[in-house]
Amino acid sequence: MTKVEPVLKWVGGKRAILSELDAHFPSRLDGTYFEPFLGGGAVAFSREYSKISVSDANQELIRFYEVVRDHPTELFEVVSGFPVDEKFFYEIRGWDRASIFDSKSKVQLAARTLYLNRCGFNGLFRVNSRGQFNVPFGKKTSLDVRMEKLLALSRKLSGELGNQIEIMHSDFDSVLGKARPGDLVYFDPPYLPLSSTSNFVSYSITGFSNFDHLRLANSIEQLTKMGVRVLMSNSDTPRTREIFGGLGALISLNVQRNLSADGSKRGKVAEVIFDNAGRL
Ligand SMILES: C[S@@+](CC[C@H](N)C(=O)[O-])C[C@H]1O[C@@H](n2cnc3c(N)ncnc32)[C@H](O)[C@@H]1O
Repeated sequence: MTKVEPVLKWVGGKRAILSELDAHFPSRLDGTYFEPFLGGGAVAFSREYSKISVSDANQELIRFYEVVRDHPTELFEVVSGFPVDEKFFYEIRGWDRASIFDSKSKVQLAARTLYLNRCGFNGLFRVNSRGQFNVPFGKKTSLDVRMEKLLALSRKLSGELGNQIEIMHSDFDSVLGKARPGDLVYFDPPYLPLSSTSNFVSYSITGFSNFDHLRLANSIEQLTKMGVRVLMSNSDTPRTREIFGGLGALISLNVQRNLSADGSKRGKVAEVIFDNAGRL
């Protein structure tokens, strides 16, 4: 059994619709599986392909996974020692607003990432224009971090569960220089907004703009010309169909999820999966 569950909550996380998504993925793959918008990793960590390459533009997230891979026990011990209360939440959140940040070890910083993910409002990861984490306290009373989940993910990321796996901090388009015919790339970008006011793109300082979606379409087209299979998740909007519809099949998924990060703007979103198999 090489499937592993995510340890972070992530906006847009695919855990709830994995079985629906699975039907679109090949059951075996001889080439490499690329997932360049890793996030919580619900899809990537449940793949049983032998070669996996995952990446994300969020450097803190990638550093967190490196610590899960290399120091899971220390990470568990440090995070378990953090008190779950509002005062400590704002104290540890403030590390990135002061020079104290640079004096912390990578295990302490990863423990902070996990703590803020567990104790912040709705498990959001959001930073301001200065890159400072700015999610408020989520009024949690316990951490609920399980050692066996951290260890399972650590083993997956170390390649001990039978897959070779590499993890990198990079923009999604670095996959263009790596993928080869026979590989599979699954893109799970921040979704196109349903309307201009329902946009949630602040995963990183730069966000994910309309221009980025056009860059993504261009990458998909180049990968298709290279003979690389591409799957992509997105919201089912007229703009999605306009940008990606000419590049492959867009299949409606039979799911409706709350995707808005902001509780006051919650709305149900229909999703599509894009597949270029018909053009290879
Ligand atoms: C929708 S989330 C991915 C959800 C994830 N697949 C899951 O199941 O939890 C989108 C991810 O894209 C990342 N991201 C945003 N802009 C990016 C870029 N230009 N290149 C690579 N990753 C980016 C964000 O940091 C975020 O983790």
